[in-house]
Amino acid sequence: MSQSDEPPVLAPHGPLPRGGSARPITRWGTEVMHRPQQPVTVFDDALRALAADMVATMYAADGVGLAACQIGEDVAMFVFDCPDATGRRTVGVVCNPRLTLPEGRERQLDEDLEGCLSYPGAFVDCARPDWAAVEGEGLDGEPVRFEGDGLLARCLQHETDHTLGTVFGDRLSTKLRKKLRKQHDAAAAEFGEHWPT
Ligand code: NI
Repeated sequence: MSQSDEPPVLAPHGPLPRGGSARPITRWGTEVMHRPQQPVTVFDDALRALAADMVATMYAADGVGLAACQIGEDVAMFVFDCPDATGRRTVGVVCNPRLTLPEGRERQLDEDLEGCLSYPGAFVDCARPDWAAVEGEGLDGEPVRFEGDGLLARCLQHETDHTLGTVFGDRLSTKLRKKLRKQHDAAAAEFGEHWPT
């Protein structure tokens, strides 16, 4: 398929910051990944530079989302470039994310493969609500809101989880966690200490 056949990328709050450098990805088990991150209160050049590094790291690792703790920074922020159920991509940056999920009869679970760049090479089914919205602030402190279904819904939930110190392994049964660990260990040689730099 040629590029012109692809639907336009949605960037409702502007494009992702570019010009950053990919950094090694922090792995599960590192302390910063397992506690809530510090809220963003100062929206300055340093924050923008961090977001640009996160974007570069996400693309270098072929990911669809990345939280600051995944490059070792204790900052409640994530970036994403992720398709929804129709394949249409949305890009954005969210500081201090707050998630809204469907409730009652609106709440439908979608069981699909999930993986995490901080536990690379492993994917197992994880049940999540099939739609999500996230609100927070952008890089200039302006209010932002993103919503979607499909992989985008999963991504918004997964990345918000990261800012709260939760990894998706925390949401799995012991059996599935074991399966995930086996895949991860088998693929470990492909993802060296400095991956994806
Ligand atoms: Ni992750």
